[in-house]
Amino acid sequence: MPALPKVLLVGYIGQVGTEMWQLLTAGGYDFVVIDREECDLTVPGAVRDVIRKVSPKVIVNAAAYTAVDRAETETAIASAINAEAPSEMARAAREVGALFVHYSTDYVFNGEHSVPWVETDTTGPINAYGRTKLDGEKGVLAANAASFIFRTSWVYGAHGANFLLTMLRLGASREELSVVHDQLGAPTWSRSLADVTLHTIRRFTRQDGVIDMDAALAKSGLYHATCGGVTTWFDFASAIFDDARKLGLPMKINEVKPIRGADYPSAAARPTYSVLSNEKLKRELGFSLPDWREALTEVMKQVAAQSTSSEAAKP
Ligand SMILES: NC(=O)c1ccc[n+]([C@@H]2O[C@H](COP(=O)([O-])OP(=O)(O)OC[C@H]3O[C@@H](n4cnc5c(N)ncnc54)[C@H](OP(=O)(O)O)[C@@H]3O)[C@@H](O)[C@H]2O)c1
Repeated sequence: MPALPKVLLVGYIGQVGTEMWQLLTAGGYDFVVIDREECDLTVPGAVRDVIRKVSPKVIVNAAAYTAVDRAETETAIASAINAEAPSEMARAAREVGALFVHYSTDYVFNGEHSVPWVETDTTGPINAYGRTKLDGEKGVLAANAASFIFRTSWVYGAHGANFLLTMLRLGASREELSVVHDQLGAPTWSRSLADVTLHTIRRFTRQDGVIDMDAALAKSGLYHATCGGVTTWFDFASAIFDDARKLGLPMKINEVKPIRGADYPSAAARPTYSVLSNEKLKRELGFSLPDWREALTEVMKQVAAQSTSSEAAKP
């Protein structure tokens, strides 16, 4: 078996963190995981101290403050977790000589576009969450570490708090539901984000298990990483219910009504056009995420298998 670098996974309980944890386990990596209980990212210096102690060769930061609406009022906490902590991680990564992987969001853009956003497009977040994530990007880039920031969108999967699991819960208990139809984006499977992360780690790991820092530094920076294609929340919800019915999941829903984002009151504004171009990822790192519809089919199979096994486990 080839030698592998030691990894520190921050935020292992979240959607992407859970998938990453599974991939690192399956890949035979030596890794340390932390989440809020082990290290509170709102405490300045806490994660830097962990990094110095663990001395990893790779740091993956899957932790974030992701409550988009609550970020409007808890902006200082969101900023500590989304901006200050990643900046501190990137500086510590440079200090210990580790490769740093971080995730950001389509919400760094204002949504006023009609073609997929590229990495060099001008940012202009329209909500507090987006502003804190953008500050995080800037802080990470300023550290000049060997770092990869994957901007992604509409993250969901078989685990965690996400749109798909909310739709399934609502679809099982309600006959009718209204879903926003005028925001465009790409739902992205948490597993695909773990896949691109592992691909990146592998790409810069030499045969002897040492990270090729010069090669990593040469490719460092911002990358868009979303599943392929484009859809709306309304069409995403409709596809979820179609698959759920095909898989025999209990569904009460018989009507999904399209509504405008403006008619769905929320504390934070959402961009209307959130599609990101993945061309740079393909060209520079040789990786493509699956089309969102294919990924959804896979996730739904996992969800159905989970629900069958939990049914079987009932006394
Ligand atoms: N979710 C999306 O739709 C979406 C869209 C675009 C980009 N992204 C980005 O993708 C990345 C992964 O997102 P995700 O959806 O996997 O996130 P997630 O499921 O919300 O998980 C975030 C993790 O961070 C932890 N965390 C939060 N506050 C913390 C603190 N003070 N100290 C330590 N840990 C803390 C959470 O722990 P607790 O559960 O205890 O809070 C949780 O385990 C993030 O960078 C996010 O900004 C997500």
